[in-house]
Order: sequence, then structure tokens, then C-alpha cells
Amino acid sequence: MSSSYTERPRGRRPADGLAASRRGGGGGTPLLAQSRLLVQAWLKGPLKIGTLLPSSASLARAVAAQVPPDSSGPVIELGGGTGPLTEGLLQAGIAPSDLVVIERDPQLFRFLAERHRDVTTIEGDATNLADLLGPFGVTRARAVVSSLPIVWLPQPVQRALFEQSFAMLGSHGPFIQVTNRLRSPVPHDAFGLQGERRARIWTNLPPASVWVYRRRSP
Ligand SMILES: C[S@@+](CC[C@H](N)C(=O)[O-])C[C@H]1O[C@@H](n2cnc3c(N)ncnc32)[C@H](O)[C@@H]1O
Repeated sequence: MSSSYTERPRGRRPADGLAASRRGGGGGTPLLAQSRLLVQAWLKGPLKIGTLLPSSASLARAVAAQVPPDSSGPVIELGGGTGPLTEGLLQAGIAPSDLVVIERDPQLFRFLAERHRDVTTIEGDATNLADLLGPFGVTRARAVVSSLPIVWLPQPVQRALFEQSFAMLGSHGPFIQVTNRLRSPVPHDAFGLQGERRARIWTNLPPASVWVYRRRSP
């Protein structure tokens, strides 16, 4: 894998002695404060962030609707940012103990971990998914939800990310990707995946699509 992440992952389980409060430390943080954090991160590296505004509640609902309700295992969220998709997944009924969220930017990570104290949050590069999740004992997943600016990742890194994800998802689990593009942000055919746009949320700023990828049946 050609990612540059070398540090040990920093993360936090709810059991790390922190109060398990569903909305602890900022569930109702105003959009302006969240946008300010995203802008600060964007200024450090625009292509690493991808957007200046947090996802809307409608987009979060559209994402959560793609998570299979009848299967077990954790939902892994890649690129938690300030947490709007995390919030949507929780509101859709995913238990906090079934949610693992990864965020690379240290400032956004701190905000996220504080906002969602009862969710397992991990600071690190999501393209090193297997290495990041190993210490947390996560080896399988119900769904992977990504709002990473995946279109900007080199193709070998995209491929490696899907391989690590589908190793946990098995044959049926969905990889759910948010993108501002209408078309698929990755060459899924070349990766042996089937992909489908499942929603387009015009009211999100900017308008966003929800793509779902699955392993192609043999
Ligand atoms: C488009 S923002 C989405 C944030 C939030 N999930 C939302 O929907 O508003 C992308 C997020 O992914 C994070 N990110 C980008 N590349 C990453 C990587 N390789 N590993 C982990 N997080 C990453 C960024 O720091 C940013 O918070």
C-alpha cells in the first residue's frame, strides 16, 4: 500500500474511562463552528478534505438508509470530519457500540471524539484500514461508510482501500461512498466491483451522491 501513515493509531473506545454520553461535548455544535474547523483543515490541504461544509442531515439519512438493518457487525466510517454522518448513523438506530469512526486530521479527530464519546473513534489514515483496526480487534464489518475525497487518491490506494474493506465486509456488505460527483468517483469495474448511485441529495451543499459498491458475484 502506498500510503504514508507510519504512526501508531491513536484511538478511543468508550471504555477508556470517558463518560458515555451520547451527545457529550458538542452534539448540538452549530454549523458555523463545524465549518470553521473544516475550513482550517481545508487550508492545510484542500484535496485531503474535499469540502468546506459538513454533510447535511438529509445526506446523512440517505447514507444511513444504505446500511443493511438485518446484518451484524460494526459499521466503519472513514473520514468522520465533524461527525454529521456519524450522527445520522446513530439516529438511524446504529448502536454507538457498533460504530467505529476514523479521522486523520488531528483537530477534527479531537472534535469528533469529544462530540461522540460513546463511539469508538480512531485517529489515523483510513487507507491503512487493516493496520488501524487490528489493535481494536475489528476484523469484520456490516458496512463501510466513506466520505473520504476518494477521487483524489491514486488508483492503487483506492484499490487497496476496497480490498481491505471487502476483506471485512464479505460478499454482501456494502461500501457506501459519498461524493460530489454524479458519476462514480472510482473505476469500480476495474476493481471487480459493481457500483450503483443510490441517492442524489440536491439540497446538500454542494449537491452530493451516495454510491454503493459490492463485490461482483462470481
Ligand atoms: C469531505 S470531508 C467529510 C467529513 C464528514 N464525514 C462530513 O460528511 O461532513 C472528508 C473527511 O475525511 C478526512 N480524511 C481525508 N482523507 C483521510 C484519510 N486518508 N484517512 C482518514 N480521514 C481522512 C478529512 O480530514 C475530512 O474530515
